[in-house]
Amino acid sequence: MSAISEADAGPTHPDQGVGPHLISIADLGASGIAEVLRVAEAFAEVERRSIPKVPTLRGKVVATLFFEESTRTRLSFETAAKRLSADVLSLAVASSSVQKGESLRDTVETVEAMGIDAIVLRHRASGAPAQVARWVRRARVLNAGDGWHEHPTQALVDCFTVRQVLAEAAGVAPASLGVSCFAGLKVLIVGDVRHSRVARSEILAYRALGAEVALCGPPSLLPSDLTGWGVSVEADLDDALGGADVVSLLRLQAERGSGTHVPSLREYTAGWGLSAVRMARLAPQAIVTHPGPMVRGVEIASDVAELPSVVVTRQVTNGVAVRMAVLFLLLGSEVALEGLGGDRG
Ligand code: NCD
Repeated sequence: MSAISEADAGPTHPDQGVGPHLISIADLGASGIAEVLRVAEAFAEVERRSIPKVPTLRGKVVATLFFEESTRTRLSFETAAKRLSADVLSLAVASSSVQKGESLRDTVETVEAMGIDAIVLRHRASGAPAQVARWVRRARVLNAGDGWHEHPTQALVDCFTVRQVLAEAAGVAPASLGVSCFAGLKVLIVGDVRHSRVARSEILAYRALGAEVALCGPPSLLPSDLTGWGVSVEADLDDALGGADVVSLLRLQAERGSGTHVPSLREYTAGWGLSAVRMARLAPQAIVTHPGPMVRGVEIASDVAELPSVVVTRQVTNGVAVRMAVLFLLLGSEVALEGLGGDRG
């Protein structure tokens, strides 16, 4: 019996609580997040096989449309789709008809006319995936990051990784924790929150699961109005670190103008960079996440990035299983998790 068939007894049909699209963490709520984490745990087991591939989405076509740079998110979605045996089409925007002035709507309609089942979209405009979701007829839309708005799968990866580390520390299987391990967890998000879609999705996800979220960064890089966000603000990073269970570091989003909000990179690093001295203030079991790409020497010192409590590489590894789960849940395969076959290692 595989770990997949041992998955806990929750719903196994993909059409429960997730979908039709994934634009925001708010589309999932606590129960949807829990379901993604549960299914991702099953796919993490597939990932550990010597041939980590299952036929679950055979015959489905996933298109990745990235109108902004990406390394890990794109590769992660494409790897996830391939491990589920879906066909993957990757639009190279820089050499596509977008450069000839084709509109986003026409591009999406062209892609959908080829019988695509899912569109994974990254766009510099906040709201682009929501707009595309209104245009498509039958394809599912997955937000892979839109402007400053959201990056829901990154927040899911971060929750999955945090639970995995907590489970290891407790000597139990992650699935056995459900999402109860997030209740009262103290999450500190550090840096350029103002321009960060990762921060917005993380706040929604961690709060939905019952964690307490605090922000810390230069006042000019925090959102000007936090009404309704349900977060607190910590003025001093050195004071705040000691009480954190999870520290989420963010990159300065220079491409969104964050450079004009800080006097200099050196001052930013002096005030809000995670140095070895600051690292020593953290509780020994605290977890440091970073969505990548890291800019060593700015938001994190290079030697600190190598410490075991900095779980960046794990986040990347987990990204595949989490995106496999999201694709599986949204594409509505009739195959229950228990039915997953595949070549066993
Ligand atoms: C993030 C993004 O693009 O929003 N990276 C990622 O997807 N892993 C964060 C960033 O670029 O700083």
